[in-house]
Amino acid sequence: MIYLKTPQEMELMRKACDLVSRTLGEMARWISPGVTTHKLDTIAREFILDNGGRPSCLGYQGFPGTLCIEVNETVVHGFPSNYTLREGDIIGLDTVVELDGYNGDQCYTFAVGEISEEKMALCRTTKESLYAGIEACVPGKRIGDVSNAVQTYCEKRGYSIVREMCGHGIGKRMHEDPEIPNYGRRGIGPIIRDGMCLCIEPMVNMGSRNIVIEHDGWTCRTRDRQPSAHYEHTLAIIDGKTEVLTTFDYIEEVLKDKFI
Ligand code: MF3
Ligand code: CO
Repeated sequence: MIYLKTPQEMELMRKACDLVSRTLGEMARWISPGVTTHKLDTIAREFILDNGGRPSCLGYQGFPGTLCIEVNETVVHGFPSNYTLREGDIIGLDTVVELDGYNGDQCYTFAVGEISEEKMALCRTTKESLYAGIEACVPGKRIGDVSNAVQTYCEKRGYSIVREMCGHGIGKRMHEDPEIPNYGRRGIGPIIRDGMCLCIEPMVNMGSRNIVIEHDGWTCRTRDRQPSAHYEHTLAIIDGKTEVLTTFDYIEEVLKDKFI
């Protein structure tokens, strides 16, 4: 069942999305070699609470963190830990913030210091594939058109798409219908229409698309241990137009100044 949002609810979605984006903007300041992922998680939790939000991931079906931590071969749903970031790592931070009853969901994959050309290309392509999905997310078209756009963009460039995890609708709950796979056929699935809030989140592997879930029951990594990247935005369909409610501007503003 897809919950269509009223204009009043859309205003609340906007605010939740702004807070999740500001949270990842704050995280951008802290990512560097030597920092533990546990420390990043603590900073994120305090930032969200200080700004009147609630960290939706924390305690969700027993998940132990505010942030999902995705270092190198971790695809999604890694736990914060005493792992210390190293120069050359990539780290995806995926988090959901609830504000006044509505959720915003966002993910960004960051470079830790200098990273290899290969990892840079993987991250760039994954981010671009998110925007290819957004371009295809046009009212009147179908979810399959979005899925196909993401898949085609990545596979043409030699990367593979994780199939077991999908994007999703969002609102009062962090996961609502519809499911938004990152692969599939054009012209299938629900029609995109006013009132929908949707999360598009490509998870893209450098090697094969196969994944394994670790014994903790959550951490999803590539089977071949090659790197994986992940970017996510929350979108809304309002007055016949698609609006991206989250933004990478806060993050990219920090990254721009960080190395000068
Ligand atoms: N953006 C992630 C997702 O859509 C958030 C997961 S939160 C967790 O799956 F608690 F489930 F880890
Ligand atoms: Co999501």
